[in-house]
Amino acid sequence: MKTVLITGANRGIGLEHTRRYAERGARIFATARKPDEADELAALAKRHAEIKVLAYDASDNGAAAALKDRIGSAPLDLMFANAGAMGTRRQTFGDVDTEAVQALIQVNALAPLKLAEAVRRQRCAIRSESDGVSDQPYGLDRRQRLGRRLRLSPLQGDAEHDR
Ligand SMILES: NC(=O)c1ccc[n+]([C@@H]2O[C@H](COP(=O)([O-])OP(=O)(O)OC[C@H]3O[C@@H](n4cnc5c(N)ncnc54)[C@H](OP(=O)(O)O)[C@@H]3O)[C@@H](O)[C@H]2O)c1
Repeated sequence: MKTVLITGANRGIGLEHTRRYAERGARIFATARKPDEADELAALAKRHAEIKVLAYDASDNGAAAALKDRIGSAPLDLMFANAGAMGTRRQTFGDVDTEAVQALIQVNALAPLKLAEAVRRQRCAIRSESDGVSDQPYGLDRRQRLGRRLRLSPLQGDAEHDR
């Protein structure tokens, strides 16, 4: 059974990914900023016992470590660092809102990076004999790093190796 971590799972693309992975029988750690208000996700989790809803706010610097603690040592096959924002208003040259841009960098760039760092050892524990993907630890060995890249897509953070 695949184990997947999906952030921002309470609506939009994150919710749909959660639904689809659940239908395929995956075990899912699904995060929401406010789990108490995540009604659709809660309803989905009621139908699929393998969905565990956890709190995660990407604007909080300690959130990645706290989430990792909740997940424990469960090996993860996939992480969708999906939680993110587009910003509340258009930024124009000459009138850049520094705080708003910094907030976006925190949520869209820094938080996924910190999350990848926090769960990297779970990923290291992953072995994939069936699909021919390497059974070497993810990204820690220097030769591995040189030979392959760990790619984080800005949209989904779907980490995969380039050969
Ligand atoms: N849809 C597109 O065309 C498109 C294009 C480019 C990029 N993206 C990116 O792709 C991702 C998913 O898109 P979407 O259309 O599904 O977006 P969406 O409907 O706006 O959903 C965004 C999700 O991210 C969560 N989120 C926002 N800020 C957060 C924070 N500080 N901490 C934790 N969670 C946070 C939201 O939680 P709340 O409900 O609590 O706000 C929600 O679950 C987003 O990162 C979006 O920016 C989407």
